[in-house]
Amino acid sequence: MNLTILILAAGKGTRMRSDLPKVLQPLAHKPLLGYVIDASMSFKPKQLVVVYGYSGNLVKQTFPSHTIQWVEQKEQLGTGHAVQQAMPLIHDEGNTLILYGDVPLIDAHIIKRLIDKGQKNLAVLTFIKEDPKGYGRIVREHNQIKKIVEEKDCDESQKKIKEINTGIMCAPNHLLKNWLGRLKNQNSQKEYYLTDIVGLSVEDHIEVLSESADNEVSITGINSKSELAAMERSYQLMTAQKLMEQGVTIMDPNRLDIRGEVVAGQDVTIDVGCIFEGKVILGNHVKVAAYSHIKDSSIGDHTSIEPYSHIVDSSVGTHCRIGPFARLRPGTKLQNHVHIGNFVEIKNSEVNDKTNINHLSYVGDSLVGKSVNIGAGTITCNYDGANKHPTTIEDDAFIGSNTALVAPVTIGKGATIAAGSTITKDAPPGDLTVSRGKQTSISGWKKPTKK
Ligand code: UD1
Ligand code: CA
Repeated sequence: MNLTILILAAGKGTRMRSDLPKVLQPLAHKPLLGYVIDASMSFKPKQLVVVYGYSGNLVKQTFPSHTIQWVEQKEQLGTGHAVQQAMPLIHDEGNTLILYGDVPLIDAHIIKRLIDKGQKNLAVLTFIKEDPKGYGRIVREHNQIKKIVEEKDCDESQKKIKEINTGIMCAPNHLLKNWLGRLKNQNSQKEYYLTDIVGLSVEDHIEVLSESADNEVSITGINSKSELAAMERSYQLMTAQKLMEQGVTIMDPNRLDIRGEVVAGQDVTIDVGCIFEGKVILGNHVKVAAYSHIKDSSIGDHTSIEPYSHIVDSSVGTHCRIGPFARLRPGTKLQNHVHIGNFVEIKNSEVNDKTNINHLSYVGDSLVGKSVNIGAGTITCNYDGANKHPTTIEDDAFIGSNTALVAPVTIGKGATIAAGSTITKDAPPGDLTVSRGKQTSISGWKKPTKK
């Protein structure tokens, strides 16, 4: 098959009221046009051409793939005009599928059938819409498509037609080129309508075929922020549905956001308000409690993430308990059976099996051994104002509460650090190290009185 895919993406999208071109507006963190490009690639076309207009450089930079050929439409004179701009790039043999850059969630199965019908004929993707307002109407006689009439050019009886043009079409290149050369802009918008090729095909006695979409989301275009939000919800619901089909328990599929990909094992539970970004891997029996935010991380089997935890670029082992209110920053690697409690921040550190860091601590640039207990309020002072330094805490060490570990520093195996210490030198293994002012009491001390 010699397929060209042509994506129309030159519209400014005035109703978005944004500096960002419409086709770059994000749906689940990915630009709208990205969905159309990815779906296009799945058809393995010979050529992929994108017609751009407004903020072209930004659009091109967002998709640096060399397989895309870019064509500028300097003035937006209509969908037919947009397709005309690309024609010099397109061969006479083969056929062309036309997609819209602002219709992101197309259904690949139906498009495949449309491509098959567009081998020798013009094939149009239509949809039966209860409220067809704003769309081009499919006019049929004896069930055969005769023409497409835009809403603004419809008479009263045509306005009642519920079969609409989705805009997605497929046609043999030599026919498309011929029809495009014959388009006129004699209509209410003074635009070159791509839809007029339907009438031209009929004129040439070439039957116009159609394929009908059954899912409205798959043909819906985005024009405004509120349509974008509605599409976001539909998309999120579809994603949640797929996870539930795989056995994930989702407490409320309406309160889950996946902006990327979640790979989940058996018996995973996700509570409300969670956000997943990038690629997140959840092992078997993982629980993610309410309002947690996890990005580009993996969570091992039987680990539970308690509410309001924030985890980025980290890996968490099995049987761990994280949070509530824990923050794991990039480069955190937790082994198994690790407990990280509330208001604990970990960055670029490895924490080994059975270690507990349960309250109010900062651990950065550290290597923490096995079965270590880090008391409340412990801080690794890793930054001297210019450089970062490492801290090593060996197996079985006990760090008393409110300790400052001034890096670079090593706490030996089995060492105990007295609460409230400021440790600036290495602490030997096994010993108790105390580093704080001595406690004294002044007897007969008189409290000051107000003058
Ligand atoms: C078009 C169809 C209409 C169909 C509707 C489906 C025509 C004449 N009408 O209407 O039958 O029901 O889509 O949504 O084709 N674009 C360009 N350059 C232009 C004009 C448009 O690249 O000069 C692009 C837009 O960026 C967009 C797509 O083409 O991706 C459709 O444009 P839009 O203005 O939304 O189409 P409508 O006039 O609503
Ligand atoms: Ca228009």
